[in-house]
Amino acid sequence: MKNRVALVTGASRGIGAAIAAALARAGVHVLTPSRTEMDLAVPESIERYVDTIEGPIDILVNNAGINFLAGIDELDSATLNATLQINLVAPLQLTRLVAERMKANRFGRIVNLSSIWSIVSKERRMAYAASKSAINGVTRTLALELGPHGILVNAIAPGYVNTELTRQNNSAEQIQAISDTIPLQRLAEPAEIAEMVAFLCSGKNSYMTGQVLVVDGGYVCR
Ligand SMILES: NC(=O)c1ccc[n+]([C@@H]2O[C@H](COP(=O)([O-])OP(=O)(O)OC[C@H]3O[C@@H](n4cnc5c(N)ncnc54)[C@H](OP(=O)(O)O)[C@@H]3O)[C@@H](O)[C@H]2O)c1
Repeated sequence: MKNRVALVTGASRGIGAAIAAALARAGVHVLTPSRTEMDLAVPESIERYVDTIEGPIDILVNNAGINFLAGIDELDSATLNATLQINLVAPLQLTRLVAERMKANRFGRIVNLSSIWSIVSKERRMAYAASKSAINGVTRTLALELGPHGILVNAIAPGYVNTELTRQNNSAEQIQAISDTIPLQRLAEPAEIAEMVAFLCSGKNSYMTGQVLVVDGGYVCR
């Protein structure tokens, strides 16, 4: 993967930081814009940031995501719109901008961070589940459109990962109770998700595209 260039969103912490580190270990030059440099809530900011990158972008990891809990009676349009913007519309915009450069090189790897809540669900995850279910569909459609250009598009659907996002939405007691229901009896560490992403981004993945890979310690098998 030496001499490849990757753009990873949401790399300030959690899974994104682990993905950036895994790609860097594999010799990739990794671009990790902060929210100040590229705010995914603001389409103009996304366009401006991509314009500042000179040369090819070989790998795009749409990792940044938000998950504010709200049931059907609580969900307001601001929360719904923000969730769809950050988790779905921004990744689409970035893909459109970056795919042009990948096409020119006839090489590209795109990985979208989905979630098990795109496959099963849990109360008060409506906006999040909608955005992640949609990204699965987008992943499959893009695989069809971009495959002829040598661009492979996949999604990873993690279960519970030990990050701030999980701790924001679950108390320590809830996390312990959740761990007991996971066949592997623990949450994933961000590095374990990052290893899968790094494989999908590498030349070693030469034939898998359009797939949603569940990495959840067996949680959805129940
Ligand atoms: N944690 C889990 O259990 C889990 C499970 C399944 C799927 N996922 C998915 O995996 C991805 C990463 O999750 P995580 O747990 O690592 O999340 P996290 O710890 O909450 O980190 C989220 C990242 O997204 C960035 N971000 C949020 N809003 C942004 C915006 N408007 N513009 C630019 N960056 C923004 C944050 O940047 P700032 O530092 O600026 O806030 C941060 O770097 C997400 O897509 C999430 O849905 C996570």
